[in-house]
Amino acid sequence: MIGIFDSGVGGLCSLKEYRRLIPRESIVYLGDRKNAPYGTKSKKEVIDLAKRNVRVLQEMGAERILIACCTASSVYRYLNADEKAIVFPIIAPAALEAARIGNRITVISTEHTASSHVFKEEIRRISSDADVTELAAQQLVAMVERGARDGNLTEDDGKLLDSLATRIIALSPKALILGCTHFSHLEGEIAKRVYPTVIVNAAKLGARALANERRSVISERRGRLTFM
Ligand code: DGL
Repeated sequence: MIGIFDSGVGGLCSLKEYRRLIPRESIVYLGDRKNAPYGTKSKKEVIDLAKRNVRVLQEMGAERILIACCTASSVYRYLNADEKAIVFPIIAPAALEAARIGNRITVISTEHTASSHVFKEEIRRISSDADVTELAAQQLVAMVERGARDGNLTEDDGKLLDSLATRIIALSPKALILGCTHFSHLEGEIAKRVYPTVIVNAAKLGARALANERRSVISERRGRLTFM
């Protein structure tokens, strides 16, 4: 069984993608709405919440845990060795994909993720001269938790996305990383406003990367069973 956690509904996009790729594996999902939002919290608070979520999911029987939250993934380096061995953070798959698309990259994320510069660091590890701009778009988190979705926006939601898109277009990026899993619920609305910028969805790519890893674990187990 795998565990997936986020501060709320953002990680459900990862869950859906993972379920599409590996339909039969059991999943336990933790949406920590009680402590949401994570994106406005201090580093220490985010570390404590990440550690607690890992513990809770482990106690429920998860053998691998997808951190379907970029904010919590940004504190991966502060986890201990045992925690690091079980969790799967989602920054690197998105950074890799964005660097593959082009050299000018914009990242939209929570306040915490933007000020941690975790995406810039990861992208620069892959492509040292990449031009990376990190923008905080924390208001989108509350918007999604209130129910905003692709094709279902209030007038104010639309205006907020329009003004964010204007800032993004001014930077003319080749790739735009949705560096907060909540933003996946608005992928279509964002994509049409920043076209032709290519959207890189951290929630989906993280789930795909973990699914690739789990496929080999699962087939190895099956192989062992067939052999016996
Ligand atoms: N969905 C989370 C992320 O990917 C956190 C949103 C929040 O709670 O601020 O960063």
